[in-house]
Amino acid sequence: MDSSYSFLVSSLILGLLVTLGSVAQEAEAARAFFVFGDSLVDNGNNDYLATTARADAYPYGIDYPTHRPTGRFSNGLNIPDIISEQIGAEPTLPYLSPQLTGERLLVGANFASAGIGILNDTGIQFLNIIRISKQLEYFQQYQTRLSALIGAEGAQRLVNEALVLITLGGNDFVNNYYLVPFSARSRQFALPDYVVYLISEYRKILARLYELGARRVLVTGTGPLGCVPAELAMRSRNGECSVELQQAAGLFNPQLVDIINGLNSEVGADVFVAANAFAMNMDFVSNPQAYGFVTSKVACCGQGPYNGIGLCTVASNLCPNRDLYAFWDPFHPSEKANRLIVQQIMVGSNKYMNPMNLSTIMALDSRT
Ligand SMILES: *[C@@H]1O[C@H](CO)[C@@H](O)[C@H](O)[C@H]1NC(C)=O
Ligand SMILES: *[C@@H]1O[C@H](CO)[C@@H](O)[C@H](O)[C@H]1NC(C)=O
Repeated sequence: MDSSYSFLVSSLILGLLVTLGSVAQEAEAARAFFVFGDSLVDNGNNDYLATTARADAYPYGIDYPTHRPTGRFSNGLNIPDIISEQIGAEPTLPYLSPQLTGERLLVGANFASAGIGILNDTGIQFLNIIRISKQLEYFQQYQTRLSALIGAEGAQRLVNEALVLITLGGNDFVNNYYLVPFSARSRQFALPDYVVYLISEYRKILARLYELGARRVLVTGTGPLGCVPAELAMRSRNGECSVELQQAAGLFNPQLVDIINGLNSEVGADVFVAANAFAMNMDFVSNPQAYGFVTSKVACCGQGPYNGIGLCTVASNLCPNRDLYAFWDPFHPSEKANRLIVQQIMVGSNKYMNPMNLSTIMALDSRT
């Protein structure tokens, strides 16, 4: 049996299991879902802000159910949307959306903001974005609003039983340390010391999430930063991934797993779950054809080498079939690639999910 055929068969089987799982889940009310982080998981908060980090124009959203831009950095659905789908929930509304009121608060909320990082100075060029400390403040404000709706005890329970996703770190490299040659941070820190600093700040953020009531938190490491079309366009001679950025991800991700293990043993429970986004992405980046892509180097939407220069706009090259491209724009995966990533989050082995995958989490949590 060739590998693409066995992949197809196992996808079909897993797809069936996941479908059955989500039907069973829908019998009860879906659990709430909270999302924190950057553009990989922003459902549209930045559309309400005076910033240049926005996905508010065609062709963003071209494959979204409405075929309109929503602020998501995708041709269609993004990672949180597909997780919502899998847990049988409505997609999370951006926290800044005026529609996020009343019963809709029970679904959860999305606090993510494109351009942000672990550090406050990451993404300063985008001006007005919601930095992570502000996202956590909004989470607290959300809980006050939820308490007014369902009472303090109910609100506490909803938050404790919720699923949380946090995606941070990529911008601390691409939109800070490596943004320009001789950046302030790269003059201040050698790369290994910068990573240690980032991780120590990330630990405080995760500890704060726990204080605020989060009890199941998916923490994604960074993807293969050196292999995105933007970095290929800027740093690659023959299409090979940028060594420095791959090295940055290679230092960051294992240390993130270490602090996750440390926090879990401190709180005496598997609260934090590491998702190995690097490995999930590398599978289709290094063998795109096995996953139905024609390329993992050229973005569907963009211009210049690898369609990796500048932004995806109405004036860019646009591929006719987005499902054939691993990257939608110079930095962000296509919906098809996001589906492959969430598939591993759901049912991946220990290579991808530590200490367990989301289907195991759901089975465990439905018994308590
Ligand atoms: C980032 O800014 C917030 C709010 O001003 C502050 O509380 C926090 O300590 C800052 N973080 C760092 C790492 O300086
Ligand atoms: C992940 O999910 C699959 C399918 O539900 C399960 O068989 C497997 O043991 C899980 N792996 C881990 C590491 O939890």
